[in-house]
Amino acid sequence: MSATKKSGGLAGVVAGQTAICTVGKEGAGLTYRGYAIEDLAELATFEEVAYLLINERLPNRKELREYRRRLMALRGLPSPLKAVLELLPADTHPMDVLRTGCSALGCLEPEDKSRNQYQVADRLLAVFPSMLLYWFQFSRHGRRIETQTDDEQMAAHFLHLLHGKSGNDLHVRALDASLILYAEHEFNASTFSTRITTSTLADFYSATTSGIGTLRGPLHGGANEEAMALIQRFKSPEQAEAGLMAMLAKKELIMGFGHRVYKSSDPRSASIKGWAKRLAEATGETELYRMFERVEAVMWREKKLFPNLDFYSAAAYHFCGIPTSLFTPLFVISRTSGWSAHIMEQRANNRLIRPTADYIGPTPRPFVPIDKR
Ligand code: COA
Repeated sequence: MSATKKSGGLAGVVAGQTAICTVGKEGAGLTYRGYAIEDLAELATFEEVAYLLINERLPNRKELREYRRRLMALRGLPSPLKAVLELLPADTHPMDVLRTGCSALGCLEPEDKSRNQYQVADRLLAVFPSMLLYWFQFSRHGRRIETQTDDEQMAAHFLHLLHGKSGNDLHVRALDASLILYAEHEFNASTFSTRITTSTLADFYSATTSGIGTLRGPLHGGANEEAMALIQRFKSPEQAEAGLMAMLAKKELIMGFGHRVYKSSDPRSASIKGWAKRLAEATGETELYRMFERVEAVMWREKKLFPNLDFYSAAAYHFCGIPTSLFTPLFVISRTSGWSAHIMEQRANNRLIRPTADYIGPTPRPFVPIDKR
């Protein structure tokens, strides 16, 4: 195997150092700043985790309260940003709305002497749900919603803006857990792209916009939406199994399965699957849940492929009444915490990220002017 083949897609290449997260490391598994994902998903809240990622340590009670208050105060949308959002067509993909909104906010509230990187990170974390749901409600229903709510937790606030009323406790807890699971994952494609942009000394908004664009594709964040679309093609577990077998026979990729780093399971799956099951029981949508389980069983039986976080996140979000097109944007809302930590880490010890390529093009040849060709 050639050196190029081995490093295709940079698989297995160590591309830098980080103190933020371990992914699939022997003896550690998935950790955020040394804390096991299983503990964080069960015992922490998303705001605690975002604080941990960005500030390198857990907050105490007072710090967490202040952090939540600070984020709450940053949920408002400036009028020019509302005007931009209102101009976007109703059939725009919500990921493109966030990408555009992030870029527009970078023009309105640039990172400069009056606004440091911590303030921009807080602002983006706080404002993405507002941006997304302001556009969503305006483009769907012509409603200009108020983006401030009394909900301290991001998960509750999101459901409130989406449904126009406070979410029930189970939905809030499930969404909060999913935000924790999605918050950070080392040098995944979108995080790496934020680091590349940062390494050129570009601003925080440019780096975050790179991250959103990279997360959008179905091989990365977009997989959760594709997984839902797949399940919704079927009416029963039996039909799901038959449909899946036909897709596998055609060697189609099944979104929500497999992983570049994990080889036998995704450590985030058990937690999100547990939430999906509880939500399915609570909503009575157990047949739909059984289809997810059947697809999981068939993928393991046929391909020894396991569900990644995106697969059961799709189920959990669906059972919380979240439209499919908002699944990947929720990933953005959460991952902004991890991206922010990586932007700051890259800046603290920066060197331009600029790899080289193995040249496979034509050997040197003479240029013939156009009138002699
Ligand atoms: N469905 C069907 N086959 C899959 C598969 C999937 N989801 N994921 C991997 N495979 C197969 C590949 O086709 C390949 O088969 P081959 O050796 O016969 O060519 C083999 O498993 C190894 O996969 P590979 O393409 O080398 O993995 P990768 O590391 O390049 O890609 C992913 C990793 C995540 C991009 C890939 O698993 C995938 O496309 N998954 C679906 C998208 C997804 O869920 N993304 C979210 C990731 S968190």
